[in-house]
Amino acid sequence: MLYNIMYRMMFDAKFESQDDPLFIEATNFNSERSRLAQSFDYNYGDFIPLLRPFLRGYLNNCKDLQSRRLAFFNNYYVEKRRKIIGENGEKHKICCAIDHIIDAQIKGEISEENVLYIVENINVAAIETTLWSMEWAIAELVNHPTVQQKIRDEISTVLKGKSVTESNLHELPYLQATVNETLRLHTPIPLLVPHMNLDEAKLGDYTIPKETKVVVNAWWLANNPAWWKNPNKFQPERFLEEDGGTEAAVAGGKVDFRYLPFGMGRRSCPGIILALPILGLVIAKLVSNFEMQAPPGEGKVDTSEKGGQFSLHIAKHSTVVFKPVAA
Ligand code: HEM
Repeated sequence: MLYNIMYRMMFDAKFESQDDPLFIEATNFNSERSRLAQSFDYNYGDFIPLLRPFLRGYLNNCKDLQSRRLAFFNNYYVEKRRKIIGENGEKHKICCAIDHIIDAQIKGEISEENVLYIVENINVAAIETTLWSMEWAIAELVNHPTVQQKIRDEISTVLKGKSVTESNLHELPYLQATVNETLRLHTPIPLLVPHMNLDEAKLGDYTIPKETKVVVNAWWLANNPAWWKNPNKFQPERFLEEDGGTEAAVAGGKVDFRYLPFGMGRRSCPGIILALPILGLVIAKLVSNFEMQAPPGEGKVDTSEKGGQFSLHIAKHSTVVFKPVAA
């Protein structure tokens, strides 16, 4: 589903099913890319330069995958859109994100290579993060049927039979709190993305030399018992409480440095405006139509974590039972 949402927005393209050969190829390329990016080989070389000559095999694997992956995006998606734009000339109607990006290239604002790297970046940044968050949300909802019921009650009380849409999500605070709580307890990118300070900086009693690789432990900020009551419990209510609550750092929202699942500042995640509504809408639709239950014979879904340098995702996939809610 998430691949179809993102590929529709990016390329006006759709996968027919999970057996669609292009879907298989896209998911394999993206998983392999994530696996290599999170390999500890990369880390050793970053911190111990002496080891770099021994990591040539790893770097060659990265380069090989990169060229095959970029060729895949180019041949099957970007070139197709270029052809459509070329055939329709001035009459061409922009109907997906890549059209804007190709337009920027035609105007000379970016290069052909930039176009491909933007596509590659969105494939990594947008799809897997939102997918992992969705898996965590479903797992926690299965393990907390009362939260499911509260979302259902909120939707029926507030919307009175109307369907949940992007424009009425703001009327559903408990649903939004559930999304926030999922991202707090299971911060999908727990260490954010490494940053570098150009100038020396002071932080508390520390001096951070210029050009230091700075890694922020966003997961710990969001799970530190000094700042959160029972941080290891899944409790959306905490986001609705006056003093213990926080607002997601959405553009224009209050900034709370305890809660940074999308990072902060100029390099924070631009996809927040897409990820939050997608998560809210999907959870709302699932919960309104189904009671989500643990696999038969199992009381709970196993929420053990599996992490790499840039991800925190569920370790084991379960087959969840979807029981239609009585009308
Ligand atoms: C729940 C889903 C998501 C989470 C948790 C997430 C989280 C993050 C984080 C932590 C960063 C690094 C921020 C920093 O270090 O300051 C980031 C960067 C980024 N994200 Fe997201 N993201 C999500 C969804 C998306 C989506 C849907 C898109 C695109 C449609 C997207 C596009 C990007 C891009 C392009 C960057 C790089 C920004 C830059 O370097 O300037 N993300 N994201």
